[in-house]
Amino acid sequence: MILILFGPPGAGKGTQCSILEERIGIPKLSTGDILRQAVADKTHAGKQAEAIMARGELVPDSVVIQIIGDRTSQPDCGKGFILDGFPRTEKQAAALDEMLKQQGRQVHKVIAFDVNEEELLRRILKRSKEENRADDNPETFRKRMQSYHAQTAPVLHYYKGQNLVAHVDGMQAVEQVTAQIGKILNLQAA
Ligand code: AP5
Repeated sequence: MILILFGPPGAGKGTQCSILEERIGIPKLSTGDILRQAVADKTHAGKQAEAIMARGELVPDSVVIQIIGDRTSQPDCGKGFILDGFPRTEKQAAALDEMLKQQGRQVHKVIAFDVNEEELLRRILKRSKEENRADDNPETFRKRMQSYHAQTAPVLHYYKGQNLVAHVDGMQAVEQVTAQIGKILNLQAA
């Protein structure tokens, strides 16, 4: 199964991705986490990404497409994987389709999280008190939202055209969001 969790910053993609990884037994691939690790490790990709991420802008397509291409070809992705934060541009979506086509696979479902902007900012500010992310502050949040509306939101239309999108009410509590996703994917109740 190949799943995409889709939504704005703070929508709950990463939270649900970790739960689904446990539940379905396929790995989560979070480009945000992979890039943050690359920054911490001071790799070539990390050095390219650090300042861009801190500004709330998108890292170049070529960098993230390479990361996902490398990661999805590893053996643990053989039975599928869950994407969190990728694709974020139409170019990334087309590259993913091409990659999967070559592997004889395709996207199974795109789960789109609906959360209003006030709640997104509340979550980001709450997390900024608990964790140390360079992009969790009101100014960078606004920039991340701009990037989301300008470059990422159109990707949803791409998948709607393929009839792959299911919406979840991301304003609910974590457990309720999990339950709604479980129904969409016909998972056994946990
Ligand atoms: P990334 O790490 O992907 O950040 P994001 O999309 O902005 O997502 P977040 O991690 O902020 O939110 P989330 O939806 O995962 O929510 P979470 O579960 O964490 O990307 C960071 C940066 O990397 C980008 O800005 C860009 O620069 C770069 N990048 C990454 N991918 C890229 C790509 N493909 N192309 C180019 N650049 C890329 O939850 C947020 C908070 O809310 C948590 O504290 C959580 O505990 C809480 N929470 C979760 N669910 C609920 C709930 N239901 N109710 C209440 N609280 C909740």
